[in-house]
Amino acid sequence: PDRYAVMGNPIAHSKSPQIHTAFAQQTDQDLTYTAIQVEKGKLAEAVTAFQNQKGKGLNITLPLKAEAWERVDKCSPRAQRARAVNTLTLEENGSLRGDNTDGIGLVRDLIENHGGLIRDQRLLLLGAGGAAAGVIEALLDEKPARLVVVNRTPAKAIELATRFSPLGAVTGGGYELLASGPFNLIINATASSLQGELPPLPQGILHPGGWVYDMMYGNEPTVFMKWGQTQGAAQALDGLGMLVEQAAEAFFIWRKLRPQTAPVIAQLRQEMA
Ligand code: ATR
Repeated sequence: PDRYAVMGNPIAHSKSPQIHTAFAQQTDQDLTYTAIQVEKGKLAEAVTAFQNQKGKGLNITLPLKAEAWERVDKCSPRAQRARAVNTLTLEENGSLRGDNTDGIGLVRDLIENHGGLIRDQRLLLLGAGGAAAGVIEALLDEKPARLVVVNRTPAKAIELATRFSPLGAVTGGGYELLASGPFNLIINATASSLQGELPPLPQGILHPGGWVYDMMYGNEPTVFMKWGQTQGAAQALDGLGMLVEQAAEAFFIWRKLRPQTAPVIAQLRQEMA
């Protein structure tokens, strides 16, 4: 069988092996997919070891996406702009090709799985780290009226807005930019949910009937999703669907086949309940 894996740290609870194994069964592909813990700064040697074991492809997750981007020989334009790689293809000649499927994963989950709207809407993206950088291009491709990126450290949001402004209407800054609300869709790309914290969000920034989306997920609704519910969100979504959709796009890059995502999302939901 062809070998694939996900590398990150921590990695023990990654759902990627289960997701890709399900995709492989669905599409009748002979492959294995494992999870490998790799410390920050050690990606290059881990990838070389995997190549020597005839590995074909890797997903890269926290905290290694930027390091993966630095290591690739070739890179898709979207990964280049994000400066982050979540999908590596190990080519026959030994070269490394990088891509980033996080943005398309988010947009597919929002639009196709949930019937959400981005076009002509006012979007707010919280956070300006790798997770945020990975989704901005795909959001702008859907032509929102405006995308506002806010971050605790404003300079990082300003840098992202500057970097992506050739692609669409994007503004960046600190939390004071929230005064330019309300927003139809608020996406949390900060690591705050991991700590059970909430970014400093004032009342009234969610448009009536607006949606909130947390790129994190867990067995329970995140604090950000609960905040959305208190603000009258019509939908408060977690990032499980995004996880499966980004995986499906990686699977497509590797195997040129599109697995069905709905049954895999449903299975994971059931197991988490
Ligand atoms: P990732 O790759 O997940 O984006 P990261 O690059 O470390 O990880 O970025 C984490 C993001 O979460 C940053 O935008 C960070 O804000 P700073 O750039 O100001 O550090 C944000 N973040 C983390 N904890 C937060 C909190 N409690 N409230 C608000 N923002 C938070």
